[in-house]
Amino acid sequence: MNEIQKKPIYSKLAEIYDHIMSDVDYAYWAEYIDDLLHQHHPEPTAITELSCGTASLTLELSKLGDYDLQACDASPDMVLVGSKKLDTLAQPIPCFEASFDNLLAIREQDALISVFDSVNYLLQPGEIEHFFHEAAKCLTVNGLLIFDFSTPKNSIEAVQHLNEIEGDYHHIRYYRTSSFDPKHNIHTNSFEIIDRSRTAQQAWIEVHKQRAYELVQIKKLLDKSPLKALAFYDAFSFNEARSTSTRITVVARCQKP
Ligand SMILES: C[S@@+](CC[C@H](N)C(=O)[O-])C[C@H]1O[C@@H](n2cnc3c(N)ncnc32)[C@H](O)[C@@H]1O
Repeated sequence: MNEIQKKPIYSKLAEIYDHIMSDVDYAYWAEYIDDLLHQHHPEPTAITELSCGTASLTLELSKLGDYDLQACDASPDMVLVGSKKLDTLAQPIPCFEASFDNLLAIREQDALISVFDSVNYLLQPGEIEHFFHEAAKCLTVNGLLIFDFSTPKNSIEAVQHLNEIEGDYHHIRYYRTSSFDPKHNIHTNSFEIIDRSRTAQQAWIEVHKQRAYELVQIKKLLDKSPLKALAFYDAFSFNEARSTSTRITVVARCQKP
């Protein structure tokens, strides 16, 4: 086998992402987001999913409401897979590259959505602060930013289940390892991906680092931002998040005049 080549996050993984996430119920998740949108906005129409990955949530949202949707992600390879999915719809939905740190291509939205711990990829609190400012520029008055994040408790509880997983998808074999550094709250997932279709097997590795945030940290960052926090929900519920929550969904409103 050739030596293992290091790849950027969500490049090689894009090919098998939907397989790895096959037990995630995006239809259920979309219903939850749909409920949140209607709970907190009188008429949510223009919606952008940020960090959309392969656009599974956007696809499900398109079945629910009369939304004017678009989707974007920082990874060109994820966008490629997402675009293929959204292009096949009777009314195709745009899917394009955009990163949390530069949302210039997105304006006049009633809501921005980001799910599945994507914001945890922002490793420095300052990057989250910058993201909130970027998000505010994309929103109309009273527009919503809805995002979730995972906490250190989630990493502590999940790290063992996520460690040393292996599987096959068509000609690809993958190994996942997972570790958590509780001192710095950094969760590392490594994916080794081996393509067995070639005569000389080829292998790649992606090392994903995410920072687990405490509820109180995100609250403080929102307080400093142009967004007003409306709600912090525990996972997929309408119950108020607590310091013991593992995934927290945040709803914040843009308050510019
Ligand atoms: C766990 S996946 C979630 C994808 C999708 N939301 C889902 O539910 O399947 C995290 C996603 O965040 C994206 N991402 C990571 N850092 C990002 C950034 N700085 N800006 C935008 N997207 C980012 C990755 O490319 C990846 O698609």
